[in-house]
Amino acid sequence: MSISLQTSFCRNFQLNKPIILAGMAGNINSAELVAAVCEAGGLGTIAAAYVTPEALRERIRKVRELTDRPFAVNLLLFDKPADGVISPECMNWINQVRERFGLPRWNGEWPVLEEEIEACFQVIIEEKPAVFSCAMGLPGSYGKRAKEAGMKVIGMATTLEEARLLVEEGVDAIVAQGGEAGGHRGTFAPGETGPGECIGTLPLVSLLCSSIQEVPIIAAGGIMNGQGIVAALALGADAVQVGTRFLGCAESTAHMAYKSRLYEAKETDTAITRSFSGRPARGIRNTFMEQFQESGLDVLPYPIQNEITKEIRQAAGKVNDSHFMSLWAGQGVALLKREESASDIIEQLMNEASQGMERLTGLCTVASRNTDQ
Ligand SMILES: Cc1cc2nc3c(=O)[nH]c(=O)nc-3n(C[C@H](O)[C@H](O)[C@H](O)COP(=O)(O)O)c2cc1C
Repeated sequence: MSISLQTSFCRNFQLNKPIILAGMAGNINSAELVAAVCEAGGLGTIAAAYVTPEALRERIRKVRELTDRPFAVNLLLFDKPADGVISPECMNWINQVRERFGLPRWNGEWPVLEEEIEACFQVIIEEKPAVFSCAMGLPGSYGKRAKEAGMKVIGMATTLEEARLLVEEGVDAIVAQGGEAGGHRGTFAPGETGPGECIGTLPLVSLLCSSIQEVPIIAAGGIMNGQGIVAALALGADAVQVGTRFLGCAESTAHMAYKSRLYEAKETDTAITRSFSGRPARGIRNTFMEQFQESGLDVLPYPIQNEITKEIRQAAGKVNDSHFMSLWAGQGVALLKREESASDIIEQLMNEASQGMERLTGLCTVASRNTDQ
C-alpha cells in the first residue's frame, strides 16, 4: 500500500508530504539537505541562528537554485541580556578547558554580542521564503512583518499556555515540541535553572490537538520513523517536524565526529544541559557537559554562555574531539545507525507510515470479526 497522507497543513503549505525538516542551527542544514527534503515533497528549513546575514542570503539563494518548491527559514528568538560580570571561578574553569586545546587565555570580559537577529530577519523579509518559523518565544513584530510580506508563520510551543499565546499572535501553525526533542527547548521563558518545560510529545500533542482548533499542530520530538508519523497523525497532528533523524544523513554538514557519535548512541545517552549555551537543550552527554555540571558554576544567560564556549567547541572540532563539542540529539537517537540520503529517509518514512497504517487497518478488521462472532 502506498499512501499520500495529504493533510490540510499540506494543502495550505503546498506540500506533498506532512514532513518538516527542523531548522537545525550549528551548520547542519546544508542547502542540499533543505532542497532534498523540499524536492521529496516535505518542507525543508534553513536555520538562520548563528549565521551572518550574508551567509543566510547565500544559503537561501543556493536553495532556490536547487529547488523551486516552498521552504522555510527559522530563527531562534532571544532578548539581548544586559551586560553582567563573569565570576573568577567561571573564568578559571573556561581557561582550564581552553588550555587543553592550546587556546589563549580569555580575559573574562563580557562578550560583545553582534546584533545579527534583526539583520538576518531583514534578509528573510527581502528574500521572502514561503515560511518563516521561530522558536524560544513569540514571533511578535517579526511574525507581523513576515505576514505582511506574504509569508506563513510557524511558532513553537512546549505548553498549552504557550500555544494559546501563539494563536493570539495569529501564527499559521504551531510546532508542539515534546521533551524528547533534540536541540534547544523551545520554552519561552525557561528561568535561570531547570530543564525548561519538558512535557512528552504524546501528551503535549494530544493536549494541543484537543484544545486548539484555530491552527494545525505539528508534532516534534522523538519522531524517527513512519510509525511515529502515523502516531502523531492519530493524535490529531497535521504534520511532523523531524530533526535527529536527518542529523546523520549524507547531506547534513554535521561534523564527522558528531555523526560517528550519533550512530553509536544509546537511548540513555542524552540529557538536557545549559552548559553550552545558557539555555536548556538536549544532547548526547559528554565530558564538557559532565565537567561543567561537576564544577557547580552558574551558567551565564543565553547566548552569552554560547559565546564564551564557542571557541572551545570549534577547537574541539578541529581535532575531532566529540567530548567537547555540543552533540545535540533527541531521545530517538538510538534508532539512527548509518548515513542515508535525505530522499531515502523520506521514502522510508512514507513506506513505514504505510506499514503502520496497514497494521492498524489489520487490527480493525480483526476487531470487527471478533465482534461479529
Ligand atoms: C542539532 C539540532 C539543532 C536544532 N536547532 C534548532 C533551531 O535552530 N531552531 C529550531 O526551531 N529548532 C531547532 N532544533 C529543534 C527542532 O526544531 C525539533 O524540535 C527537534 O529536532 C525535534 O525532535 P527530534 O530531534 O527528536 O526529531 C534543533 C534540533 C537539533 C537536533
